[in-house]
Amino acid sequence: MCGIIGIASSKLVASSIIQSLKKLEYRGYDSAGIATIVNGEINEKKCAGRVDSLEKMLFKSPSKGSLGIGHVRWATHGVPSKVNAHPHSSDEVSVVHNGIIENSNELKKDLEKKGYKFKSQTDTEVITFLLTDFLKDFDLVDAINKTLRALNGSFALGILFKKYNDIVVGARRGSPLAVGYGPEENYLGSDSYALKSMTNKITYLDDGDVCILTNNKIEFYNSKNKKINKKILILSNNEINTEKGDYKDFMSKEINEQNITAKTCVKEYVDQLRKDINLYNFPINPKSIEKIVIIGCGTAYHSCITAKYWLEELTNIQIEIDVASEFRYRKIKFNNKNLYVFVSQSGETADTFAALDLCKKNKVKTCSIVNVVESSIARSSDFVLPIHAGQEIGVASTKAFMGQMLVLYILTIKISEIRKEISKSDFEKRINDLKKLPDLIKETLNYCQDTMPIIAKDFINSKGAMFLGRGLSFPIALEGALKLKELSYLHAEGYPAGEMKHGPLALIEEGLPVVIIAPKDRYFEKTISNMQEVIARGGKVILITNENNKIIRENVRFTLEIPKTDEQLSPFLMTIPLQLLAYHVATLKNCDIDKPRNLAKSVTVE
Ligand code: AGP
Repeated sequence: MCGIIGIASSKLVASSIIQSLKKLEYRGYDSAGIATIVNGEINEKKCAGRVDSLEKMLFKSPSKGSLGIGHVRWATHGVPSKVNAHPHSSDEVSVVHNGIIENSNELKKDLEKKGYKFKSQTDTEVITFLLTDFLKDFDLVDAINKTLRALNGSFALGILFKKYNDIVVGARRGSPLAVGYGPEENYLGSDSYALKSMTNKITYLDDGDVCILTNNKIEFYNSKNKKINKKILILSNNEINTEKGDYKDFMSKEINEQNITAKTCVKEYVDQLRKDINLYNFPINPKSIEKIVIIGCGTAYHSCITAKYWLEELTNIQIEIDVASEFRYRKIKFNNKNLYVFVSQSGETADTFAALDLCKKNKVKTCSIVNVVESSIARSSDFVLPIHAGQEIGVASTKAFMGQMLVLYILTIKISEIRKEISKSDFEKRINDLKKLPDLIKETLNYCQDTMPIIAKDFINSKGAMFLGRGLSFPIALEGALKLKELSYLHAEGYPAGEMKHGPLALIEEGLPVVIIAPKDRYFEKTISNMQEVIARGGKVILITNENNKIIRENVRFTLEIPKTDEQLSPFLMTIPLQLLAYHVATLKNCDIDKPRNLAKSVTVE
């Protein structure tokens, strides 16, 4: 992960670097730093903690210079601290890095033998010293190439040189890096979002590319050291609303605007007049698809599980799902009659991208479901389905999950209709139901607002919690547990309710909060029986249902009765109380809501 920014300008750059680093904090926020060239020397300032702390440092002691690089870190090698913060500089060069150098230990030993003294525990400092060493005998381009060739692993780099003090250099292998063209200045950034306030003219480096930026020129070289031209892309001017408004944090805003997320997404895909779904140009004819493989990580993976249930229910296609970090290393039998679908909010998740890359190398058709349409995953797929959720800033994914599920459901019913596996009237009924969904989401949000802060109190002193559901409520249970873990740091387990008796039931003890997700569906009675097994062992049950039944509420501590929907649509509503629960438990525990410890929004390392 980590965020990189670089600016070659004729004006002072520090404040623009700080503003861009604030936008990049979603990639990491354990330390921050900046380096500029001042009077021909490298001037480095860094600190542990957030960009705000770096900004305060610069306020007391401003960084001058019209060439600079900046970094926000998500620790891989070495604890989050000032000494491990980037940039890592020698007298000659200064480096910011995103990625992991896998052979850093061997390189370090060689460099130590040559007399280089390492200050940090990072893998990045080897890049600094390799460059410094090669620059003794080689010119700029050769020194860069020799350094990059020595590195194993993944990287996006921003580099400043004392000797070449009118340039900023960028290089990438495995980790994304964008270049921006500005008026009288040029930029490097981990993504186009960080550059959007400065320019809408962007180029993305391909693997192995190196770029050399001055304030009025950008040169590109490919991995064979050949000068190349790159296409300039013009970013859309869609101004994204990134203000919190009256909300205390972005997460509560993102949870509470999910009705709008759903409305926008449905509007983009569903033609209510023609009672159809606007999905054309499939990379593979849906009628001849043999298998759909759906891949994602974390919350995105949970949306993949919901899609498995939908596709199995509404089509005859064989469905396989996997987490990207496993898929990328499995011995897969690829088949060009299969469709491989990748779900990622950021579109930059390293594991998901590697899984996609594996598919591309095996020449099979790929589709991505992303929020960021300019992302690496979107750009590399044959077919892109945006979720139209607007930027998600809270590290814990909420509205993007809603959007991912919606697009997967929409894709399911369209494929099913094309294959004639659902009737025209069933298809049209589902389209009608989608139209009503945003209002039901709003109703659910309103219903839960007052109750959730009360229920949350039961969790703050507990050892942990369990989330149980069957069928489509199983991935929602997993997602509820993940939300609680990442926001409140409480141990939480999500399980298929029927699996409890095979072991996890041993965890139930007097007072343990257990959330049961039981919409009135084909599993309802079975889930309620599993709930009774929990109650009998002292579990404190929070029942989330859409069934008005007084008998089942006996011995249940809290029951939430949310609006009724079609069985297939229940995940869209059931997930809302769980997001709010995690939010309120974390608030009561004074946790950082938008930036939970140890995490980052975009996971660009393996
Ligand atoms: C969600 O709350 C998490 N922060 C995380 O699991 C996330 O969903 C995962 O890292 C995948 O990210 P992506 O959707 O950007 O690929």
